[in-house]
Amino acid sequence: MINSINLQNFRNFKKKVIDFSEKLTVIVGPNASGKTNILESLYLLSSGKSFKAQIEEEMIGYTAEIARISGKMIGLDLEAILTRDVDGWPKKRLLVNGVPKRLIDFAGNFKVVLFGPWDLDLVTESPSLRRRFLDSTLSQVDREYRRAILSYDKGLRQRNRLLFRIREEGISRGQLLFWNQLLIKNGDYISGRREELINFINSKKDINNTKFEISYDKSSISEGRLKQYVEEEIAAGTTLVGPHRDDFLFRIQVNKKETRDLATYGSRGEQRMGILWLKLRELAFVEDKTNENPTLLLDDIFSELDHPHRDVVFSVVGNQQTIITTADEHFIKSFKNSNLIKL
Ligand SMILES: Nc1ncnc2c1ncn2[C@@H]1O[C@H](COP(=O)(O)OP(=O)(O)O)[C@@H](O)[C@H]1O
Ligand SMILES: [Mg+2]
Repeated sequence: MINSINLQNFRNFKKKVIDFSEKLTVIVGPNASGKTNILESLYLLSSGKSFKAQIEEEMIGYTAEIARISGKMIGLDLEAILTRDVDGWPKKRLLVNGVPKRLIDFAGNFKVVLFGPWDLDLVTESPSLRRRFLDSTLSQVDREYRRAILSYDKGLRQRNRLLFRIREEGISRGQLLFWNQLLIKNGDYISGRREELINFINSKKDINNTKFEISYDKSSISEGRLKQYVEEEIAAGTTLVGPHRDDFLFRIQVNKKETRDLATYGSRGEQRMGILWLKLRELAFVEDKTNENPTLLLDDIFSELDHPHRDVVFSVVGNQQTIITTADEHFIKSFKNSNLIKL
């Protein structure tokens, strides 16, 4: 649970302190007033990363050189300091109680489940979005997963460079072995955890009188598979198998015996209900793994949802600390006893 944040030169906020309720906080403001930016700062304190910036420097106020984002939890001060690229300075520093931390040790102290309009395309959009869902969920609860992902991504870049050079410069293939081992070791861990998460999600399929499930479309990585694809990989100059090619598919139950692919057969409304189901299962997963209630961050989603969908979201708002943003004052009436913040 987060008690307050203090933003300095973060996005459009020169200086901004916000106190949060331990139950519900509603942030109201017109378009471009910085609602999503506030949730981005909270996500940054949670994960050490932005959920939308391509380059982290984007988060620093236009005319500033340095941004500070700090948050107070009970007994824990989190801080992220972002600087522009000046020689000798790290561009991002992450601190817990004033002590510098590596990303994998900073992340996971403050747990959040974030839900915004961009999630509403999760069923139909590209696999990278669904992989990001798996990674951000598992990264919250598992330090070893965070480490494995960083190591895998680094190894993947090196191996791809090598494949390219084997093709272009004809250098020896021997060096592939080292990277193969590294990718297999981390890849096994990553797909194992993803499998567990997917099984957990499927352990409760019901929502609003409908049943959903997801199925893991796993791209396994092993010596055998890498051997099988090595010629194709050299020709392509890139690694073709492994968890970076994973995906999962949504299915909806259509009668007692049958399920169907939600992306192909589901209505828009059913697809959205499937996404709500997934997000609620994410919330349950983080709770189950950590014995803590994550903070629920809802970014301007009510205007995007119709009644049955809204009711599903309303039904869980009281279960944990929740921070909601909205541009529409009219939704405020739905939330009694909330801490109201106007931008
Ligand atoms: N680095 C930055 N410095 C100053 N302002 C920024 C920066 N990045 C984004 N903004 C401003 O933030 C505003 C958008 O904030 P956002 O949180 O998306 O608004 P909302 O969610 O309330 O619609 C835009 O006006 C944009 O110009
Ligand atoms: Mg917004």
